[in-house]
Amino acid sequence: MRLDKYLCEAMDVTRAWAKKIIKSGEVSIDGAPCKNAATHVADDSVVKYQEQTLSVIGIRYIMMNKPEDTLCSNADNELYPSVLSLLEVDKVDRLHIAGRLDADTTGLILITDDGQWSHRIASPKHVCEKTYLAELAEEMSPEQQQQAIETFAQGIMLNGEDKPTEPAKLKFLADDYAELIITEGRYHQVKRMFAAIGNKVTFLHRCQIGALELDESLEPGEWRYLTEAEVNLF
Ligand code: URA
Repeated sequence: MRLDKYLCEAMDVTRAWAKKIIKSGEVSIDGAPCKNAATHVADDSVVKYQEQTLSVIGIRYIMMNKPEDTLCSNADNELYPSVLSLLEVDKVDRLHIAGRLDADTTGLILITDDGQWSHRIASPKHVCEKTYLAELAEEMSPEQQQQAIETFAQGIMLNGEDKPTEPAKLKFLADDYAELIITEGRYHQVKRMFAAIGNKVTFLHRCQIGALELDESLEPGEWRYLTEAEVNLF
């Protein structure tokens, strides 16, 4: 990263201001004063301003096991806190959630400050499978299950929409418990799909996005940074 950009990031100043500070001679890289704004700062270099060591926050990629009664938005509302309030990190305001869940839905959410990366996960232009586990209010007979599997595979028209859903994969794990894989992120999509076949989702959990599974060691509300390999899945 260029030295002036490094200062902008680390000190939250404008590029013009960063150049001024550098010109003043009070910035050093690895102990040597540096007055050239274009100088490259290596990852392991120590940059100081007036003897104060600076550091920049790199781009962050986080997985969280979203607990119930939290919001996938950047702000709390009067009922629930934002999931971002569970993160003890600097510059939380730079982060956003890649693909939202309802307040009562639990499970895998991805949080980042990389807009291009989250676009690949959440944008309808990119096909990215999301896997949900749904508890249902009504038990379904084997015939009803088969019918639902076929209906969801063909696509179903949701209330108030003019286009059927994309083909989805439904698998019953019990008569009232199913795994559903969808590639879209329409408003309340899973709940509305089951409502369209006369059932009701009583509990919804997202366990996978693309090839990335929720880390089972994360309790509700816990989070961790993704590994490089996990980031590269998208
Ligand atoms: N579908 C829903 O209905 N709710 C969610 O939170 C996610 C998908």
